[in-house]
This record gives sequence, structure tokens and C-alpha cells, in this order.
Amino acid sequence: MTISTNAQNVMLDHSKAKVELYKRYLSIYLNILSKADFVSKVFLYDLFAGEGKYANNELGSPIEAMNSIKNHYFANGKKIKDIKFHINDSGISKIEPGKKKIDRIGELISEIFTPPNVKVVLTSLEYSDIYPEVEKEVRSLKAHEKALVFIDPFGYKEIKPIELRSLFLSKSVEILLFLPISFMHGFSEKALNDEDYTEGKALELFLRDLFMNKPPQITSVHKYIFDLKCQFQNFLGSKYVDSFSIQRDKSNVFSLFFFTHSKLGFQKMIEAKWSVDNERGKGFRLSNDLPLFSEVEIDDYETKLKNFIFESDGKTNEEIRDYGYENSFLPKHSNQILKKLENEIEIVSIDGKDIKGTYLTNKSRQVLIKRKI
Ligand SMILES: C[S@@+](CC[C@H](N)C(=O)[O-])C[C@H]1O[C@@H](n2cnc3c(N)ncnc32)[C@H](O)[C@@H]1O
Repeated sequence: MTISTNAQNVMLDHSKAKVELYKRYLSIYLNILSKADFVSKVFLYDLFAGEGKYANNELGSPIEAMNSIKNHYFANGKKIKDIKFHINDSGISKIEPGKKKIDRIGELISEIFTPPNVKVVLTSLEYSDIYPEVEKEVRSLKAHEKALVFIDPFGYKEIKPIELRSLFLSKSVEILLFLPISFMHGFSEKALNDEDYTEGKALELFLRDLFMNKPPQITSVHKYIFDLKCQFQNFLGSKYVDSFSIQRDKSNVFSLFFFTHSKLGFQKMIEAKWSVDNERGKGFRLSNDLPLFSEVEIDDYETKLKNFIFESDGKTNEEIRDYGYENSFLPKHSNQILKKLENEIEIVSIDGKDIKGTYLTNKSRQVLIKRKI
């Protein structure tokens, strides 16, 4: 049998990058929670789980997640928080025609060691049917229970910003959402302005919900992603929203959006992003001949950080560290900029101890970094 190489049965590089980031974040997430004594139970959801294993033997999100759970258990002295891992996919396999994707996933999961207090739930429901159940469960979580919801549809038709907001009302939840940006960007204007464009109805509803009738910026794909991110921040009422762009080719950019209430979770996601793409942390390029779209943003951050410090009486090391993360940069990037500004700034001790640096990563020191007068 010849299997065609499309994204549905062969895992392409952009999907690998997405699963890689999800897997890395999940490992970090389990590590953080294992140290938080007050957390009693973790709920993981993969609502569009895929084939499990692709025709080129690459592993999909639920299998990589199960491997992360197993690895965490052994690395953590055979201990792990109680976990409920809910995996859902309504589709029929393209690799084994006639078989449900969820049954393939079930078989693959059964071959992976599962810690005794990890319960796997497999369903093959339509998203519109499973979503209300998930929302109910997540909204009823107690403060000592945490949830991570991974939403990876083929498009965005099923995804309603209003539902995401409702899910995000739970203070225990973090959400990862994958969106086909180039397609959305290319059709936004038509969907919003052409009443006869019936295929654009779902996109129109998505944008009208999220942008509350103010059209998104469409001057470039990257401005569009930035606008979506800012709009998600407004719409969900959290500054801890970030996006990771993944570029398949010149006309195919995807973005993995991350929503959390937790400053620590947000900072860890920024670190995971930079470790997947240590060149810039914002996106994954699949070919070196594609232009880097980071320069502007890095230049922009330099100006922003300078203004942030200079337009005030100074900022503390903690404020500068947090400002960097909020703009998707690590302390080392803020330090590079402070180094460039070294003749224009002074560092003043707040805690009375001697000063030998900027202390952006030192949580036990307090200094003020301000414009030299
Ligand atoms: C992009 S793939 C998911 C890939 C997966 N995360 C992975 O890493 O392999 C999207 C999946 O959503 C499933 N799907 C599509 N529409 C759905 C719906 N309405 N409800 C539930 N699953 C759906 C498809 O069968 C497909 O496997």
C-alpha cells in the first residue's frame, strides 16, 4: 500500500516542533507541580489527539506526553502526583483505515509503563460534545488541583474564544492552543467584509468574538500573531499569554498559543521556547533561507526596555526580569541590553549590600537600575 505524505499520516517538521514544545513544557510542568506540596491532583487533556504514531514512525502528542509522564515518574524516585490523562479524538485512522485513531492510541499507550496513580481515559467524541464535559470538570477544580489542556485541531472551526474564556475562568488551568495562522491571516479581511463568503463564517465568528468587532492588524503575518496575542490577553484578562510561531514554508505559519494565570508557568514556557529555538525563542524556522523575523522584535525590545527604565525613577532587578519575560525574553537577553547601556545607567543597592552586577536572576538581592544623572 502506498501512503501519501500529507500532514495527516506523516508527521511533518512543523508538527514535530509543536509536539516538542508541548512535551518539554509538560515535563517542566510536572516537575514544578511535584515540588508543590499543596497540589494533590493533575488533570491533563489532549482533545484532538491524532494518530498516536505516524507512518514515518514519529510519535504524536499523547504518546510523547505518556513518555514524559513515565520519565518524570522514574526521575522523581518513582513518585508522581495523581494524574487523570484524558485523551480524545473523534477520527478514523488514515494509516490503518477502518480503525479509530483513539484505538491506535490506546494500543500504543498500553505498551508504555503507566505509574499506578496515573489514570488514562480514552474517548472518541466530537469536540463539541467533549468540550462541555471538560469545561465542567475544569471549572470545578479545587485550588489544590491543576489542569493543562492541549487543543490541537486541524483548523479553528470548532474553537470558540468564548468557550476558551469560560474554561480559563478556572484559576487552576493552563491552555495550549495551536492555530493555522497563515490561513486565518489570508482570509480574515474577506471573512469580515464579504457577506457572500460562507466558507469564512467560522473565521468571522472567531474574530468577532476575540476582537470584539475591532478588526485585527493584517499588514503582516507576524503583526497578526502579535495582535492575536494582545487580544487574547484582553479577552482572557491575563497578561500571561504567549505565542510560539512555527513556519512550515513561506506561506504556512502556525502558532502555538499559551494561556496561564501563573507567573512561574509563564516564565517556564518562555524558557521552554528558547530551548526549542535558542536563536530567538519566538518561532521555529524549518529552512535557513527563510528570513528571520526576529530582528525587529529584538530591536523593539531594546527600545522598550530602555524606555521602561528611563521613563521612571528606575526599576528593580525583579521588575526588569519580569518585564523581559512578559516580552518573551530571558534575563540573559535583558542583561545583554543593560550591558550596551552600561554608560547610561547606574545600579543602586536597595538591600545595603555591595553590588557586582545586575542581579536579574538573583531573587535574594534587591537593586535599583536607573538612568545615570
Ligand atoms: C492536528 S491533528 C492532532 C495531532 C496530534 N496532536 C498529534 O500530535 O499527533 C487533529 C486531530 O483532530 C481530530 N479531529 C478533527 N475534528 C475533530 C472533532 N470535531 N472532534 C474531535 N477530534 C477531531 C482529527 O481526527 C485529528 O486526528
